[in-house]
Order: sequence, then C-alpha cells, then structure tokens
Amino acid sequence: MLDVPDSETSLDKTVTREIKIEPETVVRLFHELYYGSAEKTWFNTTWLGIPLLKCPLDLWVYQEIIVETRPDIIIETGTYKGGSALYFAFLLDLLGNAGQVVSIDVAAFPDLPNHPLITYLDGSSTEDDIVTQVEALVQSKKRVMVILDSDHACEHVFKEMNIYGPMVTSGAYMIVEDSNVNGHPVKPEHGPGPMEAIERYLKKNDDFDVDRRCEKFLMTQNPKGYLCKK
Ligand SMILES: C[S@@+](CC[C@H](N)C(=O)[O-])C[C@H]1O[C@@H](n2cnc3c(N)ncnc32)[C@H](O)[C@@H]1O
Repeated sequence: MLDVPDSETSLDKTVTREIKIEPETVVRLFHELYYGSAEKTWFNTTWLGIPLLKCPLDLWVYQEIIVETRPDIIIETGTYKGGSALYFAFLLDLLGNAGQVVSIDVAAFPDLPNHPLITYLDGSSTEDDIVTQVEALVQSKKRVMVILDSDHACEHVFKEMNIYGPMVTSGAYMIVEDSNVNGHPVKPEHGPGPMEAIERYLKKNDDFDVDRRCEKFLMTQNPKGYLCKK
C-alpha cells in the first residue's frame, strides 16, 4: 500500500521546491540508476515467474502495440529464458486471435516455458537455415511483427534489420531493442550497437517510420527503436 503523506508533511515541501533540471537529464539519471542497480531491476524482472530482460515501461508499450496492430506472428530474435516470448504469447492468447510467437536463440537455455503459441528455433538469427524457416512461417501471414533482441553489436543488428525488415507487414512494427547503449544514454563503453544500426539502416531505406510516441514513458531501452512499417 502507498504511504501517502498528509498535506502538511514532506510531499508538499518537495513539490513546491523549484527544481531546475532538464528532462533529458532526469531520463539519463534514471537510466544510470536502473543499470547501476541491474541485479535489483532488469535482472530481477519476471513474467509469471519467468525472467525477462525488459523494462516494464517498454513491456506496457509492447502491450499497446500488440493490441493495436494484432500481429498474426511475432518473430523474436534473442529468447534468453523465454520470459518475453511467454509475455507475447499470453497477450496474443488474451486477444483471442490465432497468432503465434517464433523465438530464436543461438544458446540453448534449459527449461524454456512451454506455451502452445510459442515455437523456439535454435541457431543464429542470421544463419541461412533459420532465416529459411522463418520465411516459410511468415509467408501466409497478413500481420508480421519483428523484435530484434539478440546480439547487440551494430553489424549484427544491421544484418538482422536487412533480413527481417522486409518480412514486416505494413502498419506492423520492427522493434530494435537496447538502442540506449553506447551512450544513448547508458553504457558508453559498449561500442557501436543498435542505435548505430538503426541510423545506418534508415539512411539507406525509407520503409519504416520511427514512432517516437512509443517513448511516451520517457525511460525506454529502445530510443528510436520502435519502427513502424509504412
Ligand atoms: C538480451 S537477451 C534476450 C532477452 C529476451 N528477449 C528477453 O527480453 O528476456 C539476448 C539473447 O540473444 C542471444 N543471442 C546472441 N547472439 C545471437 C544470435 N546471433 N542469434 C540468436 N540469438 C542470439 C543470447 O544467447 C541471449 O539469450
């Protein structure tokens, strides 16, 4: 239960105190707190008991996108322990459509959660055999959504965007995860990553719009990473 102070106490004093701080600074400081206490925050986030590596603010945006766009199939690169695939499967199930989730990982994590809507593929997201399997799965689908959350090196993400971008259907999303690293605004030591891949992709292709409305909760791990297919 929330501990709400009465009007004579500290909250009143806090809100009336003038704070001169730019919104971007607040967002950066929140990122630093969130990443600085990762054991307590994103390494300690679960969906129905299964770990997943996403900020709850982004998970809420995912929910809104999925409800609005009703994908028939969601392709996720980077399964990890299966929590995000399970989250998407439950949302599709709740919507009552016949959607499915295909989640790809190069590492075979044990005890992935079973769900009738989830198919796991073992292998690298960019290897021919995996891509061929995914192409076959999306072929007859009207609404295809893609989430890129595997290797976050720029080269790999750029390659994934070129492979999976064309599979996304008009009005659906390709979400490029973790574009906040390499100093955008966290982990400056990361090196070129998803943000650089997004910028490189958008310079060469005009098939997606960056949907900045998806950054409405201010803190997102995917700045410029919510891409809507034209
Ligand atoms: C950030 S985690 C995925 C988190 C998960 N989507 C979630 O939200 O809980 C990244 C995963 O990508 C996998 N990975 C790394 N390189 C890959 C590749 N080339 N192809 C597919 N998966 C890869 C790793 O094994 C790891 O499990």
